[in-house]
Amino acid sequence: MKLKNLESTQQDLLKKLQAIENDAELETFRLEYLSRQGLIAQLFEQLKTLDAQEKREVGPHLNDLKKEIQASFDRKKEELFTQTLERANQKKQNFDVTLSKKHRKGSLHPYTHLTNQIEDIFISMGFQIADGPELETEFFNFTGLNIPANHPAREDSDTFWINDKHLIRTQTSTVQIRMMQNLKPPMALIVPGRVMRNEATDASHDFMFMQLEGMLIAEKISVANLLATLQTFLTKLFEKDVKLRVRPGYFPFVEPGLEIDASCPFCNQGCSTCKKTGWIELLGAGIIHPEVLKHGGIDHTKYSGFAFGCGLTRLAMLKYGIPDIRLLHSSNLKFLQQFS
Ligand code: PHE
Repeated sequence: MKLKNLESTQQDLLKKLQAIENDAELETFRLEYLSRQGLIAQLFEQLKTLDAQEKREVGPHLNDLKKEIQASFDRKKEELFTQTLERANQKKQNFDVTLSKKHRKGSLHPYTHLTNQIEDIFISMGFQIADGPELETEFFNFTGLNIPANHPAREDSDTFWINDKHLIRTQTSTVQIRMMQNLKPPMALIVPGRVMRNEATDASHDFMFMQLEGMLIAEKISVANLLATLQTFLTKLFEKDVKLRVRPGYFPFVEPGLEIDASCPFCNQGCSTCKKTGWIELLGAGIIHPEVLKHGGIDHTKYSGFAFGCGLTRLAMLKYGIPDIRLLHSSNLKFLQQFS
């Protein structure tokens, strides 16, 4: 059969090779013609069936054909490989690092927005911003703050103890004595910071939340200074005239201790936020206990001061109308993107 017209078979195969454009086509060609079951192998099988004279005539032609096709095949392979490389290089050269289809902009977390705003307000009143460690000693979190060993706040259920002496701070009040030891009166500072309590999580509780501590120590500081400061702060923050309501409260590190409510900034006669009472419980505060001043190395006969602690998490939820604390602490993009 084909042995009779090797010449045209060869032309045929060469044409086919020339038309090949990719690796897949090349492989199909190889299987069909050059593999062990391919056409050329079959021709060699047929050659065996010829007589000696014919073999001598046809054999060399068939060998030539095989060589020629194999060589063309190899060239084609090389050519395709070079093309692929060139295309890859081209792509690299055209790669523009400044090009992006969508300009996705990040946004600040609501805590960051709020903290920035609060810091601005207090800085405008002459306060400085302070910070302290989240991993604390028992002294700064409890003993130094006049919280005796049998106080409920010390029970394991509330505190993440690391060992006998170390814990994760349960309140930003830890920074009070630290700052008294570092600065001299008169001093005024706020501490926005993270605290943790070993509590079950629900819509309004999480084991981690943010507090805002405030402290001012100078001569002749009284509850009046505390209330004026807080009223100014809240009025600026909520951009509404906020009134304060003061009730007695117990915190071992202040005397007198106060619970302070703010008039609801969202309504006039009661809404769901203030549970129709017109007031929102917002702060613990008071006049710093002389024992605490002593621990801080401050002369309590000369100086007095106020301190307050406020749920920064609660403020954020109030200000931005966030119904569930878990949203605030999640990485839910749909939620976070609203604050860009
Ligand atoms: N640290 C108190 C709390 O976590 C709040 C507070 C701060 C009360 C400062 C009085 C003075 O509840």
